Amino acid sequence: MFSRAAYTTGTRAFRAPSFAQGRMASTQAGPGPFGADRKAAIAWFTKAAAGSAILGYGVSNYIATDERIAPLSKALSDSVNALQKKADDLGLKLPFTVAHAFSTADHGLHPPHYPWDHYKPWKTYDHASIRRGFQVYKEVCSACHSMEYIHYRNLVGVSHTEAEAKELAAEYEYKDGPNDVGEMFMRPGKLTDAMPAPYPNEEAARAANGGAYPPDLSCIVRARHGEEDYIFSLLLGYCDPPAGVTVREGLHYNPYFPGGAIAMARALYDEVCEYDDGTPNNASQLAKDVTTFLSWASYPEHDERKKMGLKTLAISTMLLGLSVWWKRFKWSYIKSRKIVYKPGKFDEV
Ligand code: HEC
Repeated sequence: MFSRAAYTTGTRAFRAPSFAQGRMASTQAGPGPFGADRKAAIAWFTKAAAGSAILGYGVSNYIATDERIAPLSKALSDSVNALQKKADDLGLKLPFTVAHAFSTADHGLHPPHYPWDHYKPWKTYDHASIRRGFQVYKEVCSACHSMEYIHYRNLVGVSHTEAEAKELAAEYEYKDGPNDVGEMFMRPGKLTDAMPAPYPNEEAARAANGGAYPPDLSCIVRARHGEEDYIFSLLLGYCDPPAGVTVREGLHYNPYFPGGAIAMARALYDEVCEYDDGTPNNASQLAKDVTTFLSWASYPEHDERKKMGLKTLAISTMLLGLSVWWKRFKWSYIKSRKIVYKPGKFDEV
């Protein structure tokens, strides 16, 4: 360790504050900005408050009325918009941005967040729910919606056994061929077939649904803002339109759907499916199950991803421990080295 040749200690004088001056004189009363004394100031503030309240009431009710302000604020926002557009055209960035009014009617009601089991970091999908959800899709949604990226083989080991999936596939006839005389033929479905599409093409689907296209549900959870919460809310969100809202013939009011009017009628009611596992089949249970199934269809790698994540965390924790030990081992010589400094004889220099 370093040792100092000479070491001096100085005593620092402790200077206590002097109270000799005595207390400061209290603030003196005198003519202030609001009157000669306290009383006058209070009277001044009272009059000012009453006066501005009366003035504010008068201005907001008789002068700055909505009818008078609306054209002004429109003119202002028009000119700001025009300025923004000019700046955009010129490639300039303005120091402010134009805010656009947000309406829940245009963008859809924001769905609440539901406690999905598989949102918890250590949970996989509820596979019994996926199985029931597939049943709901098959019995209800598949009348209008395709799932062209989901094949029967994808169900194996997820919601069904191989034998069950083969049986499900064989319920439908698929066009195949050509055979050795060049003809197309129908054959029962196999594991490699996708879910059967209800319509041969988009035009047929639109024609059957009043011009609206029932989207393919393979990736629908990924494809919608709000994901599971949105699909679940949408399926159960049907209600009477509020006063003043009229919905066009053939459309249905649903506040969660952007615009509020959806071409899909309510599909899920209590007891439209019969579950074999004894789970209650009310509409919200059906909606939860079909949403879980659609979520799996969108994120089939979900369970594997979480398992990999846990393994990564476990292995990297071990590696971190090991590397801390290794670092301390390698540095121990340097860290425990003792440096001794022997000063020369300064007096003689
Ligand atoms: C009678 C036919 C029909 C049935 C049955 C049906 N849908 Fe639809 N679905 C439609 C149509 C048509 C649309 C397009 C609506 C639109 O664009 O206005 C649609 C749209 C959707 C959308 C997309 C909404 C959006 O944000 O664009 C989802 C999700 C959906 N359906 C889920 C389901 C589910 C889940 C089921 C089964 C429980 C189901 N549908 C049953 C006809 C149907």
